Amino acid sequence: MSKSLNLTLGTALVSVLLSAPAFAEKLGLGRVAMPEEVAAWDMDVRPDGQGLPVGSGDVLTGEETFSANCAVCHGEFAEGVDNWPKLAGGAGTLDQADPLKTVGSFWPHLSTTFDYVNRSMPYGNAGTLTPDDVYAITAYILYSNDLVDEDFVLSNENFAEVVLPNAGNFIVDDRKDTEYTKFSAAPCMENCKDTVEVTMRAAVLDVTPNVEETLAPVVEVKQIAEAPAAAPEVVVPATAEAAPAAEAPAVEAAAVEAPSAMAAADPTLISAGEKVFKQCAACHKIGDNAKNSTGPILNGIIGRAAATVEGFKYSKPMKTAGEDGLVWDAVSLDQYLTDPKAMIPRGKMSFGGLKKAEDRTAVIAYLSTIGG
Ligand code: HEC
Ligand code: HEC
Repeated sequence: MSKSLNLTLGTALVSVLLSAPAFAEKLGLGRVAMPEEVAAWDMDVRPDGQGLPVGSGDVLTGEETFSANCAVCHGEFAEGVDNWPKLAGGAGTLDQADPLKTVGSFWPHLSTTFDYVNRSMPYGNAGTLTPDDVYAITAYILYSNDLVDEDFVLSNENFAEVVLPNAGNFIVDDRKDTEYTKFSAAPCMENCKDTVEVTMRAAVLDVTPNVEETLAPVVEVKQIAEAPAAAPEVVVPATAEAAPAAEAPAVEAAAVEAPSAMAAADPTLISAGEKVFKQCAACHKIGDNAKNSTGPILNGIIGRAAATVEGFKYSKPMKTAGEDGLVWDAVSLDQYLTDPKAMIPRGKMSFGGLKKAEDRTAVIAYLSTIGG
């Protein structure tokens, strides 16, 4: 015993010294794997049967072997015990809400079953089955899935002829040929076009903030805050030439400080509000043909009790707030739009709120022009 062990070690040592690549030798680490070792690892079986060992097994032998080695977990008929995986059944369930995916109903290739069992089963005791055992068990699993008769014999010769029911529903990933080439060309970095033509301007597309309407009020608010209350005439918009009218600053000031006191008819404010409303429009429709969508219609919202649009399914907290007397006016809307979830906890408006007071004021002014 110890002599043969020594011999084995000696042989291994010789082959280490003979086959080690230069760098490994230098470091004194590792060696090139022996062909026998590579062969022992190289056990995968391909869908076309490549890699199968020579052998065969029939259903009835498989049933015995399965019963002895596998049935404790997978059941006598491969139907699965408790939560252990089911290896049979599930035919026709793949398009259902709770599909049963088994070797029979889901797996595309029989080679996967053979390889899986050969490599890793019985669970905790892998490597104990002979090739004939694995052929016989695989034949039995096919039988349990009603795919072969009980006199069926599976071997390395007829293996590739077995086509599993779901094989056609798997596709080969061909993106390497069909897509990769489209993205892998070197990008053009200069002189990429013969002529360059400007077809539209940002201002026309309406993606550039309008300086007069968006920036001016912000500047004004700051100045108002610092200005003595008794001298409103000190307030001059930074972009004075852009301000629409001489009294505009005073109107903005009132609006920002007290939403309820806003000048409802100020056209600048209303058109600013129309812009702000774009943030709401994804969920709220307004106008004659408006329909409820993610959020309720907002026609005539000012002065209306909360949660009263017919046909809209409000959250419970919003309904309760309406029943408790919440009416949408400039003050309550301002509060809601500042932080919807703070005012109506667990309400269903998934909107972070408008952080800028002037945005809220503007959108409220705009909504007050949309009748019910
Ligand atoms: C001790 C319990 C146990 C025994 C015994 C056992 N298995 Fe398994 N089997 C498992 C578990 C657990 C899994 C799932 C492993 C995973 O998902 O990693 C599994 C998975 C499988 C699968 C893949 C199922 C799927 O749909 O993913 C097959 C095929 C299989 N076993 C066959 C067998 C065969 C054949 C035997 C007997 C030679 C056997 N098993 C013995 C527990 C067992
Ligand atoms: C992501 C979708 C979404 C966005 C964006 C959104 N809302 Fe809402 N809104 C809702 C939903 C959903 C409700 C119903 C809330 C509930 O039932 O708790 C609601 C409710 C409301 C209500 C109460 C309506 C009633 O009938 O009681 C008002 C007012 C309102 N939103 C205004 C606005 C305004 C103004 C904006 C833009 C500044 C806005 N919402 C942005 C989805 C949205």
